[in-house]
Amino acid sequence: MPADATSPKKLRNNRAALAHKVGYALRHPGRVIPYLRRAVRDFRLRLKHPDHIGYYRAVMASDTRRNPEAAVGSQTHERWLALGQMQFDYLLEHGLRPEHRMLDIGCGNLRAGWRFIDHLGTGNYYGIDISPHILIAAKKTLTERRLQDKLPHLTLVGDLTLDFLPSDHFDVVHAHSVFSHSPLEVIEECLAHVGRVLTDTGFFDFTFDRTEGAEHQVLREDFYYRTETLLALARGHGLQARFMEDWEKRPHGQSKIRVSRAPLAGGGASGRPGSTL
Ligand SMILES: C[S@@+](CC[C@H](N)C(=O)[O-])C[C@H]1O[C@@H](n2cnc3c(N)ncnc32)[C@H](O)[C@@H]1O
Repeated sequence: MPADATSPKKLRNNRAALAHKVGYALRHPGRVIPYLRRAVRDFRLRLKHPDHIGYYRAVMASDTRRNPEAAVGSQTHERWLALGQMQFDYLLEHGLRPEHRMLDIGCGNLRAGWRFIDHLGTGNYYGIDISPHILIAAKKTLTERRLQDKLPHLTLVGDLTLDFLPSDHFDVVHAHSVFSHSPLEVIEECLAHVGRVLTDTGFFDFTFDRTEGAEHQVLREDFYYRTETLLALARGHGLQARFMEDWEKRPHGQSKIRVSRAPLAGGGASGRPGSTL
């Protein structure tokens, strides 16, 4: 589908196109060698792990060994703190209270998770991830923050069927910077099952890398989707789905969609913060 010529350029870029790659390399020569290293790793891991989860688990193992904070996308500790704070502040503005039960999909090393664990009642935080390496780093964050008494659940998963979790249980389900690394079938699996674990008034917020041009991917690591593709996918599974305008004001490169079982009252889609729980 052609891009709208009025869209900002970054939303029209096709990062997989040769012309884009050449232009980018000329503008950022220092990034060519790191990209080539990633491309070689991508080739090697793709041969070894034809399935996406196996592949991405191996990417996380390699990145986490170097630096767990960089593995979840933060190049400095200050950015790690700021990105966690941003996720936390947003959900607080949207009504997250200590008595709520939260499922954090792709919780990483608890960049935001430690703040949620601190805020929520004992046992009310459930973090899942496909990477054993990052979950070990998550335990380290939990220990450093002295949050052991909050007894959070941290669980390794191999898919997003959520089959081991109870029905009608979570007030908030959250996936930050997870679908930006996921092919459509992984997102669809999650959307097919998340409604079962949500309460009637609960919602699932996820971020994604948005394009207004052609959908594309960079290696097997980064995926760019059009908003309408993801809204249609969620609605196809009987969920309500809306684009969260108020997230766009935050200094974060990704966009956010909220899905729920039933229509939700309150702010967000219109840019108005407000309690939706
Ligand atoms: C960029 S990190 C973000 C971590 C965390 N949400 C945050 O904002 O700090 C992405 C995380 O999602 C995990 N992940 C990727 N695909 C996943 C999947 N299909 N199911 C569960 N976790 C996944 C990765 O292992 C990684 O820990």
